[in-house]
Amino acid sequence: MRILAVGVATLDIVNRVEAYPQEDQEIRAISQSRRRGGNACNSLTVLSRLGHSCSWAGVMADDEASRFILDQLQAVQIDTRWVRVESGGITPISYITSSEASGSRTIVHHRQLSEFSEADFTEIELQGYDWVHFEGRNPQATLKMLKQLRQRADLPVSLELEKPRPGLEQALPYVDVVMLSRAYSMAKGMADARQLFDHIRPLTRQALCYLAWGEHGSWMLDRDGGVHFEQAVKPAKVVDTLGAGDVFNAGVIHALLEWGDPLEALRYGNRMAGEKCGRDGI
Ligand code: FRU
Repeated sequence: MRILAVGVATLDIVNRVEAYPQEDQEIRAISQSRRRGGNACNSLTVLSRLGHSCSWAGVMADDEASRFILDQLQAVQIDTRWVRVESGGITPISYITSSEASGSRTIVHHRQLSEFSEADFTEIELQGYDWVHFEGRNPQATLKMLKQLRQRADLPVSLELEKPRPGLEQALPYVDVVMLSRAYSMAKGMADARQLFDHIRPLTRQALCYLAWGEHGSWMLDRDGGVHFEQAVKPAKVVDTLGAGDVFNAGVIHALLEWGDPLEALRYGNRMAGEKCGRDGI
């Protein structure tokens, strides 16, 4: 299947440490790695390995880090023909501390690059795609792109709401599948999945909603308002949780495209995210 994802690519500098440091402490990293990150690109990496033909639409700088990102995308056969290159731009960088003791990842992100716009989206030939996924970022542009997409094509569309951004929920009536996160729920002051689903459901047109809730497991709201839960699949040892939510989203999209069963998609995404936490990298 052909999948298009709109979102960002980042350079991730990951320091593995024995335990997360105290403020103002100085510690040594056990190892350091440089990776290509970004939610949309992480999900596409998994989808490409599952055999889909994937395109990424986003903005890249033209610095040394962006050449590294491009090489990494090419290595996993992610097509970049819709990418806009911002000349003189700076690649977004995430400085990540990954703790061996807890498996947690703490991210400090620096971004100074323009966002993919509605005008950029107009350039994309949508014919031939089977699915379009949006990372919920720049709310105004995301809403415009979704409205444009709905006029130009009849395709299944998913939207990730990972962090609350003012105005983003206005995009909900235009999507078929919503990917939520625990961080989104917490930031909205909602302590559990049911509360979040009660808030989100009236804003959608009967969209399927998925919610990954870390080490506990994941949830799904079906089109009739039924709520389903899958217990987390725990690896023998939690090695790296960075991007687990992106892997969950990829698993859900893959399963919906392949089998079309929403509950099966919850199980599949949940299992993939759990297994991912047992390995280093995506
Ligand atoms: C993981 C991730 C990282 C990236 C950060 C951006 O989900 O996509 O690869 O640096 O989040 O917020």
